Amino acid sequence: MAEVIVVENADAAGELIAASIRALIEARPDAVLGLATGSTPLPIYRSLARSFADRPLDVSQVRGFSLDEYVGLAAGHPESYRSVITREVVTPLGLTPGNIHVPSGDPAGLPAAGADYERAIVRAGGVDLQILGIGRTGHLGFNEPGSSFESLTRVKTLTPQTRADNARFFASADEVPVHCITQGLGTIRRARHLVLLAVGEGKAAAIAAAVEGPVTASQPGSAIQLHPHVTVVVDEAAASML
Ligand code: GLP
Repeated sequence: MAEVIVVENADAAGELIAASIRALIEARPDAVLGLATGSTPLPIYRSLARSFADRPLDVSQVRGFSLDEYVGLAAGHPESYRSVITREVVTPLGLTPGNIHVPSGDPAGLPAAGADYERAIVRAGGVDLQILGIGRTGHLGFNEPGSSFESLTRVKTLTPQTRADNARFFASADEVPVHCITQGLGTIRRARHLVLLAVGEGKAAAIAAAVEGPVTASQPGSAIQLHPHVTVVVDEAAASML
């Protein structure tokens, strides 16, 4: 059963999770973090950056694996998740760029990129703490409904809903890629601790399905119920259907 913590707002959620990430790095300087993109985790990264500025910590050995990437965006596109992770996480936190991995969405390298990524995670010893947001479709990473609970990093097709939700990051809805490469639910479930963050009413149904609904591939978030160590951090609005 997941531990569910209801906090006042996104900033409070960010501070709470940042504190546990800081504690992890203090205990294990080469900790392996599972990084997530989307708007929801940004307060975590901002809070960590403030914490490191106030009380410096050697993070040079910290390693990281991001959940997913769009397929086919030009290298250096500002909305590629590689660019986002560099801009929002690696640079502000002072992480070592070579230690931080994002799946490759270069069409020329698919599908080998998935197996390569899995091997890299295993070589690193697995993920200690995986940050997760959740999509309104219930997706974790980009594992849309129907994804197998055993799935590993692979190419997926985004649903129209997810493309519409992510259109805000692009000049037009047509520019949102149709395909992505994402860690599978099986990959995510191997992380030692899952920390799922959601804020706002728009996530209430996905959170209720993930935490309390039947364990079913039609609700990818429900995969968290198969994991022994899950922390769900939500505001009142995201918790409103629990
Ligand atoms: C994105 C990401 C997910 C994220 C989700 C929610 O498309 N691939 O990892 O959890 O959708 O995004 P947001 O936090 O912006 O609502």
